[in-house]
Amino acid sequence: METVLSGIRPTGNLHIGNYFGAVKNFLKLQENYNSYFFIADFHSLTTHPTPADLHNNVKYVLAEYLACGLDPEKATLYVQSDVPEIPEMYLLMNMNAYIGELERTTTFKDKIRKQPDNVNAGLLTYPVLMATDILIHRAKYVPVGKDQEQNLEMARKFGKRFNHMYNVDLFPEPTAFNFGEQLVKVPGLDGSGKMGKSEGNAVYLIDEPKVIEKKVMRAVTDSGPTQMNQEKPEAIQNLFTIMNIVSEKGTHDFFNEKYNNCEIRYGDMKKQLAKDIIAFTSPLREQILEIAADDAYLHKVVTMGAEKARESASKTLKEVRKAVGFRRF
Ligand code: ADP
Ligand code: TRP
Repeated sequence: METVLSGIRPTGNLHIGNYFGAVKNFLKLQENYNSYFFIADFHSLTTHPTPADLHNNVKYVLAEYLACGLDPEKATLYVQSDVPEIPEMYLLMNMNAYIGELERTTTFKDKIRKQPDNVNAGLLTYPVLMATDILIHRAKYVPVGKDQEQNLEMARKFGKRFNHMYNVDLFPEPTAFNFGEQLVKVPGLDGSGKMGKSEGNAVYLIDEPKVIEKKVMRAVTDSGPTQMNQEKPEAIQNLFTIMNIVSEKGTHDFFNEKYNNCEIRYGDMKKQLAKDIIAFTSPLREQILEIAADDAYLHKVVTMGAEKARESASKTLKEVRKAVGFRRF
């Protein structure tokens, strides 16, 4: 069975963009692949979260994934820092990663712009750690968004370089994966762009119904169409796109027709959209809260995940150590 792996940094709660863009994919993957999903808490240290925030974020991301249906019996669900084989292999991989190539990555350049007062070495070697995450399970497919393509390119490069340098055939080439389907982009509620944690335009799975209503009712609209079948401006199209993803097809088509006939009342559409989002998120929200309060269950899940992840990681690390020449006396 082929191996699929993906990770997420614990930087905040999951929103409906994460769900329909990424989590939904993972749910399908766990059925048919040898799958690994992990919480990249080492990676999140590059932004210096407080210890309390870090712990809380790890806990919620874990509870949210479980509430969405990620099954720890089917997939290996683990916390990155529970697997000490990862930092050891990362150290070894760092020896064959060059400053020049790391400095040239767009994500590093982006970070320098975004956090000029905290350009730490962890940021520079972020792609090495990410490559290690992937290579340590010899994963072939990595379901990620477009923004991660360059990091994946680096993972291929480091894997190939290692194979070549030590004359081994240890690492397969990992590729980005999307079922051959178009990637879903869930737009935000602020008129343009994608829904994102850092954009301040997201509806979170954990949001209370009242909060969701408020967010949706405040979404950007215009004064309405003036001509039949008029093309929709971006802000309006975004509302329809979200409705298309969350609501029944008939609901979307009903409001679409109203729009095309210049009879649309955005207030009605938003009320319906809020209702449909709440119908989707409410059961998840209850599950998230229940799971997050169940420390014994979370403990069981991460312990089991760490055990499975370490079993696979230690096999690779053993080969890596042998390849570089660490031998017992
Ligand atoms: P955010 O943009 O909220 O910070 P992350 O960068 O942590 O989210 O992304 C986590 C996963 O969710 C990635 O696989 C990413 O591609 C996906 N994702 C994030 N936002 C969206 C969106 N608006 N539409 C579709 N997928 C998304
Ligand atoms: N860099 C990814 C992100 O920001 C998170 C991540 C870390 C990851 N290691 C990974 C994703 C390995 C896939 C595979 O979203």
